[in-house]
Amino acid sequence: MDKANDTVERVLTGITTTGTPHLGNYVGAIRPAIEASRDSNRESFFFLADYHGIIKCQDPALLRQSALEVAATWLALGLDPDRVVFYRQSDVPEIMELTWMLSCVCAKGLMNRSHAYKAAVADNEQAGADPDHAITMGLFSYPVLMAADILLFNARHVPVGRDQIQHIEMARDMAQRFNHIYGEHFVLPEAVIDDSVAVLAGLDGRKMSKSYNNTIPLFLPEKKLQKSINKINTNLLEPGEPKLTEDSAVFQIWQAFATAEQTDYMREQFAAGIAWGQAKKELFALVNEQLQEPRQRYQELLESGEEIERILLQGAEKARARAVPTMAVLRQALGIQSMARV
Ligand code: TRP
Repeated sequence: MDKANDTVERVLTGITTTGTPHLGNYVGAIRPAIEASRDSNRESFFFLADYHGIIKCQDPALLRQSALEVAATWLALGLDPDRVVFYRQSDVPEIMELTWMLSCVCAKGLMNRSHAYKAAVADNEQAGADPDHAITMGLFSYPVLMAADILLFNARHVPVGRDQIQHIEMARDMAQRFNHIYGEHFVLPEAVIDDSVAVLAGLDGRKMSKSYNNTIPLFLPEKKLQKSINKINTNLLEPGEPKLTEDSAVFQIWQAFATAEQTDYMREQFAAGIAWGQAKKELFALVNEQLQEPRQRYQELLESGEEIERILLQGAEKARARAVPTMAVLRQALGIQSMARV
């Protein structure tokens, strides 16, 4: 079986294809992931989790558009598809097959404890509705699909946000259970949380997040990016009045894009009372300079979608070269095999 060996670290992460990527996604997830993928001691698997997408999004046009935008974003920002395995979950049907196998070893009680599911039940109870109202089996068993994503490729390290730690622990549970019944097939995955990456502030100063509606989309056209940056909340201090860097979203976003020297420079400007308008102007220039080229490439990729499609299909081929033999072994381990005597 295709176990990750000890010298090469196998890293895998999924990107749910809902919503347009924003600066917070870039700084907190995309940029560090692409940087890490350049390390030759690592083998990285990145995929568009479109079957996770349909749990929340039942608008086909929107789902398709999000998948396209997410793929274009990663490629435009320099993800090298020859170095990594970059694919679309739905192009690897073995993931769905493994999902069922795992469902049959996964205790229902484990899923009952899922934070996402419990939150949905709590919302229903609060609203005086039936506890199961609008809760699909997809939402309920979401962690099983995620476990299949990970275990199929025997990835040991799974970089995720804190909200996903429980899902990785559940994947470990399922792997252990499966190994116990059918023999040692799966590597036990671990969540990797990078505390050094910035959690970016949004327009209102809270964490930049789609659910707060305070995001700055990554590839806004230049003029719109400028407008959006101008909307970042500031206090009423006048030009010339010293400003605090600590609670300033403007400073915090600056820092996420700046070198150490540029950060020192802006800190001095704040102490010297830079006008908010001027600080935002400089912030726009800094961010725009870094996004200009990728934005251009992003637009080109979106135009036909053909190059993206070709890259994803190649990625799926690489992924399936691992997945198909793995599934053959697993099927046999379960006793799902040829009737003919050997
Ligand atoms: N559920 C993850 C999220 O919302 C995305 C995801 C799907 C994922 N499958 C995965 C992440 C496998 C890591 C590994 O962020």
